[in-house]
Amino acid sequence: MSARDVSISALSRDYLIFNILTLFPEFFESPLKTGLTGKAVESGVIKVELVDIRNFSENKHRRCDDYPYGGGSGMVLTAPPVFRAIESVKKDNVPLFLTSPSGRVLDRDFIREFSGKEEISIVCGNYEGVDQRIIDRYIDCEVSIGDYVLSGGEFAALVIVNALSRCLPGFMSNASSLEEESFEEDLLEYPHYTRPGEIDGISVPEVLLSGNHEKIRLWRETQSIEKTKRVRPDLYSKYIEKITGD
Ligand code: 6GU
Repeated sequence: MSARDVSISALSRDYLIFNILTLFPEFFESPLKTGLTGKAVESGVIKVELVDIRNFSENKHRRCDDYPYGGGSGMVLTAPPVFRAIESVKKDNVPLFLTSPSGRVLDRDFIREFSGKEEISIVCGNYEGVDQRIIDRYIDCEVSIGDYVLSGGEFAALVIVNALSRCLPGFMSNASSLEEESFEEDLLEYPHYTRPGEIDGISVPEVLLSGNHEKIRLWRETQSIEKTKRVRPDLYSKYIEKITGD
């Protein structure tokens, strides 16, 4: 969403450990090897411990789902293997999230709140839901990544891992891309261009070739404001409130 996002300078930690409790550890293999995330894992900026919930099932078929009490469609993630999986990683002062479409929606405030942590654990929700006793006993925060439903919490867990990881000072080579002026924080990104200067008769805006840095800055700011007004009126209102002090 917003372009110039969280102001990162306040962060104290330079690494982050994730414990991910999941029925599908293999889901994470490729994403954790790829791109900047892969580099961050290699260099130790992030560490991801995958805990296979099925290893804690006492069922010979390693089943972790069962029918809902009271009836209804869909299956429920059972409490016993999840209790044991959580006990295997549980530590004081390590927040434990559950990915759930009925959770608190992940946004910049959420990222700000948790990006200073040293370690975070995430239980990936699955099936129609999880036994409520898992939530009542262990979960600090249910987290949703938006108002739509995914087929499994693993997708959301990856989003959480990435959104928090990229706040770490060692995650991106170009640290300044995270540091932007505060007025721009609530705006969407301005358009970017690179070579070639023309493709299929479409040219790069003249101003970007002018070498006039002040003019370029103003153009970018205007583009950001106009785009935000058009596609995210909610963010635009916040921005207006902020700059007019209302
Ligand atoms: Cl965290 N889980 C599922 N299953 N669906 C979602 C979600 C999470 N966040 C948005 N939709």
